Amino acid sequence: MAGLDSPGAPLQGVRAAVFDAYGTLFDVASASERAREALGAKWQPLAELWRAKQLQYTWLRSLMGRHADFWHVTADALDFAMESLGVEDAGLRARLMSLYERLGAYPEARPALQALRDAGLALAILSNGAPRMLAAASEAAGLAPLLDAVLSVEAVGIYKPSPAVYRLALDRLHLWPNEILFVSANGWDACGAKAAGLRVAWCNRAGQPPERLPERPDVQVRSLAELPALVGA
Ligand code: 2OP
Repeated sequence: MAGLDSPGAPLQGVRAAVFDAYGTLFDVASASERAREALGAKWQPLAELWRAKQLQYTWLRSLMGRHADFWHVTADALDFAMESLGVEDAGLRARLMSLYERLGAYPEARPALQALRDAGLALAILSNGAPRMLAAASEAAGLAPLLDAVLSVEAVGIYKPSPAVYRLALDRLHLWPNEILFVSANGWDACGAKAAGLRVAWCNRAGQPPERLPERPDVQVRSLAELPALVGA
């Protein structure tokens, strides 16, 4: 795996950058953090349990063959997390879901996307998110004008890391797998995209160890700001 010190531009030849949304472009903890005056010290445990349960429910529903969209799964995960932490407040629940619709983007996301776009790459999102959620979050974060496509798993009715999801990028962008760079901060998502044949950058912000799953990403970065140099922008 190439690293931060990779010489040159190891991802040359890439024609599109396709981004995971939640955790990669949008800060999923920002919803609970924005309600910290109501949640107090529980804001962070709530953010972590909400996210963990949300992902578990996507994987479990996919295995069960019982798909429900990401809004539904996100609400179920919030209910579990609130009950687990003893937070019972219908108004706060509604507020947290509303905040989730307008998550903050990581500060480097917009400038990185702009630089990649200026370098001639097509830009897209490929996410578990329901189309309405992705549209709202992209608009709120000012990313919508930079995107050529916003692709949701709702087109295939199963969640990542099903290969059917990553194939959506190939089908919709009409590019070869080695022409698409998939970018995710979720290590398991990076492995999934690699298993489906895409080129992959893992944005490992937290410095986590690699997932013990088949496949490894092509490159690892600590911030989206490092991507333009890697594609020769
Ligand atoms: C996404 O698909 C995995 O939550 C992540 O946006």
